[in-house]
Parts: sequence; C-alpha cells; structure tokens
Amino acid sequence: MSHISEVVPTRRFERISAHSHIRGLGLKDGKALPVADGMVGQIEAREAAGIVVRMIKEGKMAGRGILLVGPPGTGKTAIAIAIARELGRDTPFVALSAAEIYSAEIKKTEVLMQAMRKAIGVRIREVRKVYEGMVTDMNIDFTKHPYNPYQQIPRSVRITLKTKSEEKTLRADATVAYQLISQGVEIGDVIWIDAETGRVTKVGKCEEAPTIGTYDITSEEKVPMPRGPILKEKEFVHTVTLHNLDEMQTRAGQGLLSLLFGGGTREISSEVRQRVDETVREWVDEGRAEIIPGVLFIDDVHMLDIEAFSFLSRAMESELAPIIILATNRGITTIRGTDIKSPHGIPLDLLDRLLIIRTRPYTEDEIKEILKIRAKEEKVELEDEALEYLTKIGAQFSLRYAVQLLTPAKEVAMLEGRKRVSVKDVERVRSLFVDITQSVEYIKQYEEKFLK
Ligand SMILES: Nc1ncnc2c1ncn2[C@@H]1O[C@H](COP(=O)(O)OP(=O)(O)OP(=O)(O)O)[C@@H](O)[C@H]1O
Ligand SMILES: [Mg+2]
Repeated sequence: MSHISEVVPTRRFERISAHSHIRGLGLKDGKALPVADGMVGQIEAREAAGIVVRMIKEGKMAGRGILLVGPPGTGKTAIAIAIARELGRDTPFVALSAAEIYSAEIKKTEVLMQAMRKAIGVRIREVRKVYEGMVTDMNIDFTKHPYNPYQQIPRSVRITLKTKSEEKTLRADATVAYQLISQGVEIGDVIWIDAETGRVTKVGKCEEAPTIGTYDITSEEKVPMPRGPILKEKEFVHTVTLHNLDEMQTRAGQGLLSLLFGGGTREISSEVRQRVDETVREWVDEGRAEIIPGVLFIDDVHMLDIEAFSFLSRAMESELAPIIILATNRGITTIRGTDIKSPHGIPLDLLDRLLIIRTRPYTEDEIKEILKIRAKEEKVELEDEALEYLTKIGAQFSLRYAVQLLTPAKEVAMLEGRKRVSVKDVERVRSLFVDITQSVEYIKQYEEKFLK
C-alpha cells in the first residue's frame, strides 16, 4: 500500500520578514554552532530550544509551556521561528502577537481558542479504492447545455489508464469529466480517480510520458509509472487542524448559502467544538486518526490580560492542548487588567508551568555577524567601515535599529549612483531615522513645554 500525505499549510508567517534569514537552530548533535542556519551566538538559548524541539517531537511536551525572556532585540522571536523551522511542515505552528487578541469583532477568548485549535493537527488515515495510472487516451463527450444551447458541456468521458502491468479503459460521467478539464489533465499525466466518489487527483507528469515534439518544456515534477493493477486500495493521509474541522462542522450546520459564500464562522459555538472533539476521539480510538499537538507561539505575552491568562491556564490542562511558547521583554510588571505586580506580567499559577529560556545581550562581534547576515538577506553591499559603524550603532542603541537602517542606507547610496553603502550613507540615514530612545526623548521635550 502506498502512502500519500496531503499537508495543509497551517502556519502563519506574517511577521517574520525580519527573520527570513533564520532557517533553524543551527545545532549539531545538540550543540549550537557559533554561526549556522542564520543563527549567531545565543548558544545556551539555542541549545535549550533544541531540547524543546526533541521533546515536542517525542510527544513529551504536551500541555506544557516555554517562556522566552530577554531584553529587546536579543532574538526571542527569532528563536521561536527557528523552533518552527526545526519542527518541519507537519507540526502545526501558529504565531500570534498578544495584542492581536483585542479585536473589535471577536471576543479575545475566541481569538485564543481559535489559535489553540489551529495549533492542533489531526492526521486522518483513510483507505480508499482508486483507479491509478498514466493517461494514455482520453475522449470527452460533449453535449448542449440544457439552458444555453450555445454552450457545450461535458457529458461523459472515456479514459484509458496504464500501469507497468495493466491497461484499462474506463467510462465515467460528467463529474469526472469536469474535474479532468478543470485540472488540465493531459495524456502522459499520472492520475487517481476515487472509485466511489469520482474525485480526480492529478499526481504529475509521468516519467514515461510520450514527448510531444522534440522539446520537453514542462517544468512539472516527474513521477514514476505506477505499478500493479489499475484498481487498488490506497491509504490517504490528510492533516487538518481542529479549527479546520470546527469550521467544516459549523458550515455543515448552516446550509447551502454559507457553503457557497463561506464566512459566517467568526465565532464557533462550544457545541460544535464538543462535537468535533468527540468525533476526533472516536477516530483516534478506531485507529483512523492521530493527534499532533503543535505549537502556539504568543509574542509580547505581557500584553495579555488576566482573563486571557486564566483562559490559557485552563486550556493548557485540557486533553487537546497545543504546546505553548511565550515571549516577553518585561521584568516585574503589572498583570494587565489588575493592579497586581508579577514577574513578566504573568500570573504565578501560569508561570509555574513554564520552562524559562533566557536570551542575553549580544557582543559587538555577534552584532556584526548578524548585520552581515541581514545585509546579505536584504541584498545590501556594505563597505567595511560602514559595517563597523553599524555595529557600533547596534551596540549603543539596539540591534534592531541597526538592522532597520540597512535598506534605507542602500537607497541613499543608490540615489547617489553607488552600489556599496559607505559610512556617509549610514550617517545620513541615522540622522533621518531615529531610534526609540531618541524619539521618546524628543516627545518628552515638547511635553515639558506644552503639557503643563
Ligand atoms: N542570534 C541571532 N542570530 C541571528 N539573527 C538574530 C539573532 N537574534 C536576533 N536576530 C535578528 O535580530 C532582529 C531582532 O531580534 P528579535 O526580533 O528576535 O528580538 P526579540 O528578542 O524578539 O525582541 P523584542 O523583545 O523587541 O520582541 C531580528 O531581525 C532577528 O531575526
Ligand atoms: Mg520579539
């Protein structure tokens, strides 16, 4: 039996352009290499994150949490992204900035609930009878449209499929014909047709496809000629999230219009979620499905309020909970929505369940190394002195400020017809764009003047 896996993209990577150079944790046998996978320094934090990745993969992290703590710009978000990269595509990873839960349209606990359920994968196995083979002949029979005689619509199809050991001609109705047309299936393609539902899946161009003309200009990936009989049992694996199932269940209960127009699933009722959980448990018990706890990453977690925190604590205890990774750059601060002070603005009962990873400020050499990587990523060529100067800025103000100056500095150089960024260009953008401490200072001066 062959094994096909459909991976539904479940991760959101919206805020990571600043982290596009991060490809992983840069570990070898659990030890962090000084510079690898776009990662520089921060050795202990990366090695700790590596252990977390192992625990997640071995299923030993479910229901637990991680807190990344460190000053601004020390790579907390970068490490969380690296963890996602290490986990691979099959483990759901959902990233959320705590401020995002305060939406005008949806309750904040609903935003959190949806994020949690997007972070839990369900791998569903299903054995189906399919016709599989390379298309060697295909004839679609057209007829007049019943309401529009000028239009032709497919009525049926005769299709010949071939494997290494068999060739068979099948007759199928309009639904199959439509799918063959809409998926652009041609002679030489390997396809599956579900024997029961008629669902067509185009696998790819066959290695043994007859070439038309002299040139083979298709860039599609080639697939081997299928073996064995045309009609066979195949195991399909679909990975969906609990949230996908919630949405399907909600739509199913809303009738045709919502199926057509989508939407209408802003808030999902708890009955729907209960029903989905029950169904999934049944599937698991019957051996048809497997639960894959993914990761929910909440950045700037001090922005959550007490209600959101108690929701999280409760949710972490439930059987179907993702692994929670939190990050913050705050020390002792008030928990939002209360006047209680707590470490990192997080209630103690939640803190108790978290493993804490610390990120440290960078040395000048590390800042320089990160700037080099970012410059390459943003295709900015730097003169040596310009890199030195940016490194000093990074050390004195912040790494993020120095990184942010790269592309504007390139613009300035280009305006003057140069390709490489010089110290002069960096000086210029530095005077045009200020860092946060400077911008705050600036406003303060005026507040003192006017707001008294
Ligand atoms: N060790 C590192 N190696 C490579 N790039 C890094 C490293 N640390 C940080 N960076 C990059 O530096 C920039 C700032 O880091 P990042 O945003 O991860 O900091 P942070 O700790 O999340 O800061 P904040 O507390 O402000 O959220 C990002 O572009 C990030 O990708
Ligand atoms: Mg961050």
